[in-house]
Amino acid sequence: MAKVKSVFVCSECGYESAKWMGKCPACNAWNSFYEEKLVKGNEGGKKEKNKSVTPKPLNEYIGTESQRISTGYEELDRVLGGGLVKGSLVLLGGEPGIGKSTLILQICNKMKGEGKVLYVSGEESAEQIKLRADRLQITNDSILFLGETDIDVIDMAIEEVKPKLVIIDSIQTMYSEEITSAAGSVSQVREITARIMKICKQREITTIIIGHVTKDGNIAGPRVLEHMVDTVLYLEGERYFSYRILRGVKNRFGSTNEIGMFEMQGEGMTEISNPSSILISERDDNPSGSVIVASMEGTRPLLIELQALTALSVFGMPRRTANGIDYNRLTLLIAVLEKKAGMMLGNQDVYLNVVGGIRINEPALDLGIILAAASSFKNISIPKGVVAIGEVGLTGEVRMVNLIEKRLKEAEKLGFKKCIIPENNKKLLKEKYNLDIIGVKNVIEAMRAIGLK
Ligand code: TYD
Ligand code: MG
Repeated sequence: MAKVKSVFVCSECGYESAKWMGKCPACNAWNSFYEEKLVKGNEGGKKEKNKSVTPKPLNEYIGTESQRISTGYEELDRVLGGGLVKGSLVLLGGEPGIGKSTLILQICNKMKGEGKVLYVSGEESAEQIKLRADRLQITNDSILFLGETDIDVIDMAIEEVKPKLVIIDSIQTMYSEEITSAAGSVSQVREITARIMKICKQREITTIIIGHVTKDGNIAGPRVLEHMVDTVLYLEGERYFSYRILRGVKNRFGSTNEIGMFEMQGEGMTEISNPSSILISERDDNPSGSVIVASMEGTRPLLIELQALTALSVFGMPRRTANGIDYNRLTLLIAVLEKKAGMMLGNQDVYLNVVGGIRINEPALDLGIILAAASSFKNISIPKGVVAIGEVGLTGEVRMVNLIEKRLKEAEKLGFKKCIIPENNKKLLKEKYNLDIIGVKNVIEAMRAIGLK
């Protein structure tokens, strides 16, 4: 009889432990451990034996430039590094309801003339997909639908149909009979991905796997498969905002810093090719606490509005709330503001928000955060047409940022008049801009430059 052993697995990152733990030591997720039963001697499938294997020198292989297929969406192609690589395995993760199935169905539609597309769904019925397809005006008639969750059946279907593109929606609903644990568990998800990888790599089929990211962790997150696939993309956004950001997290065929922006509309996802103009709210008045910053997302500059609000705290412990930026960064910058600019925020609640519901993690925003908080505290508006760029160090110095030219060009393009940038960046500027560029060495100089000090 096969021996049953049980292990506890983190559903976020796949870390295994002999006993249950409240917090994962590998990825620090709380309450993410689930018990999985492993049947010994029944793992991993059969091995092919008696195969002669002779490794060849690498130089004797003929390298072929990977062929790419355009997805029909410039935003997505850029994130992928120039289109979908033929025969590659792509993982698209995101929270339920964020728009993964919608985006993928739209991509399938754009794949007209690229051969058959097999859409395998374990979540929705053919009727449901058809309703969505009608809404999205899908006209590609080489999309074949299979409502199935058993990997053996899917394998047979792929063998029969010989598609060029396979969609698995979603990995957490698929199961293999060889594994005893429930669909969506870490071992199932890993096994299925390994099977799909084998099936598709052998036949050079491009595959997109959809994976749900959940907060409660009772199904395995896509992170447990990140190492197996070629490309990992995450679709993010606030549910109640219509903007969606597609972020490249891993890419064996290109850069990972790129993001693509989409908007969820009544008729599906549409690309936003000029996000800066959308993320800056157009207003006639100019309230205090608002500032425009220039961030870089991959190769693209992005101008965004930061808003800060400081208000007298009624609690002994003042609150700090950061929406869209790192909380610890905010508390650090507030400490710099207190110590280096003498602005006492110890009895003030500080709220910071990135407009548009997007998340940015870039040091070049630091100066903007400082100026927005100072502006709100002093109740003095930052003049219109000002963009602030710069990283702030612990001693209050404004440090150089990369790709300053691109950021300035974007500000110029969108009609801004004045840019506050690190002095060291200014010294190295070669081109002329139609902007009033002010170089600053520290936060005090930056505040003076716009009348906050
Ligand atoms: P869906 O693609 O099903 O999300 P996921 O596959 O990531 O779970 O998207 C579901 C949401 O998108 C749903 O709340 C309705 C909304 N939606 C639109 O706003 N416009 C559309 O054209 C479609 C098809 C869906
Ligand atoms: Mg879906």
